[in-house]
Amino acid sequence: MDRIAITGGAQLNGEIPISGAKNSAIKLMAASLLTDEPLRLTNMPRLADTRFLGKLLTRLGASVDEKTGDQGAETVLHVPEIVSAIAPYDLVRQMRASFNVLGPLVARTGQAKVSLPGGCTIGARPVDLHLQALEALGAKIDLHEGYVFAQAPRGLKGAEITFPFVSVGATEHALLAAVLAKGVTVLHNCACEPEIGDLAECLNKMGAKVEGAGTPTITITGVAKLGGATHSVIPDRIEMGTYAVAAAMAGGEVRLTNSRPGLIDALLKKIEEAGAGVTETADGVIIKRNGSRLNAVDVETGVYPGFATDLQAQFMSLMTTAKGESRIRETIFENRFMHVPELARLGADISVSGGEAVVRGVEQLEGAEVMATDLRASVSLVIAGLVARGETVVSRIYHLDRGFERLEEKLGNCGAQVRRIHGEPDEL
Ligand code: UD1
Repeated sequence: MDRIAITGGAQLNGEIPISGAKNSAIKLMAASLLTDEPLRLTNMPRLADTRFLGKLLTRLGASVDEKTGDQGAETVLHVPEIVSAIAPYDLVRQMRASFNVLGPLVARTGQAKVSLPGGCTIGARPVDLHLQALEALGAKIDLHEGYVFAQAPRGLKGAEITFPFVSVGATEHALLAAVLAKGVTVLHNCACEPEIGDLAECLNKMGAKVEGAGTPTITITGVAKLGGATHSVIPDRIEMGTYAVAAAMAGGEVRLTNSRPGLIDALLKKIEEAGAGVTETADGVIIKRNGSRLNAVDVETGVYPGFATDLQAQFMSLMTTAKGESRIRETIFENRFMHVPELARLGADISVSGGEAVVRGVEQLEGAEVMATDLRASVSLVIAGLVARGETVVSRIYHLDRGFERLEEKLGNCGAQVRRIHGEPDEL
């Protein structure tokens, strides 16, 4: 398994182009199941997760053509017919979001058998809201031997659904199923994440009638058939936020481009409060810090437009060397502090009690061998490594490869000393 080695101490200076959003790309890819015409997705990130899903979609009947077009990386997905409506465990367990093929499969073929998901080890992460939404749309749901069997032989029917709490995945899943349902569906208490707006925009280009995506109430008027479309994947706000934190951590001046302002306001406010310079530009942001130590600030994760839980680990890294004490509250997932013991190996002083971590800033981190535990936690260790004295080696970086495209190259181009070590570490 590959590892990443970082030699700390270099400032970051330069430009980092932001890729298309992983969390949007995988839902958009699932949308290709809803039509027998080609769906062309541009600004596609090339990641382990998009490859996994490509494999699964191929099994279901898709051709997945990855190429470089005039706008960079693109993928054309074409599902003339569903050849199998079964998503097996070995493919779904590798990536939780592949569970979202269930809705489109039932919507298009009237039935599906999809394994219950695996995914990141950041808490229980059930799919009860997904299933309740599909049931409300008229699907008969049975659970057997780790699989969900869903049936709606006469098609799905529009319904009024109120989510008991906000879920990104359930909102997207309901949307993916309801576009082909007969009649009108109204979803209440929806997640408002930008990726949901992106999915709705793409579905509308395919001929769907979705209104209100990005607000708590989404209205979908079902259509009988969807067609092909071309859609550019929204920029990855989590990647953008990660590099913003990396720049604030290492110091220097980094311009994040190929994105949009406004996607990570909650984070930028905190970075500014901590003492780094933040200048929004037409296609991103410039982060600047010269010399002086940052101040500790408190953070609480929340649903969009709140502080993203996917940026919590990175921000905690930033706070490990800030002046003072920072309180970091995680409100979305239980068990999302697995990076804490790893950061402690680098010399960070952090204590956790329930959903809150208290980070007491230290003057200097020390390089060490550490282990990635989930996707976002793994990048928080790379960020800490940027300032740790000596070398930090992060193992199990397959987590990182799920969601960060060409990380070593992007950081390396700005002066970071980051290299990938291929293969297994030596056994003792
Ligand atoms: C998505 C993102 C993930 C991000 C999260 C929150 C993708 C692929 N992943 O995950 O990166 O961290 O949003 O912004 O887009 N829950 C239930 N029952 C359900 C569904 C969710 O109890 O049926 C709970 C979850 O366990 C969690 C909370 O609801 O505690 C929020 O989860 P949700 O918003 O659904 O996150 P995901 O869609 O899984």
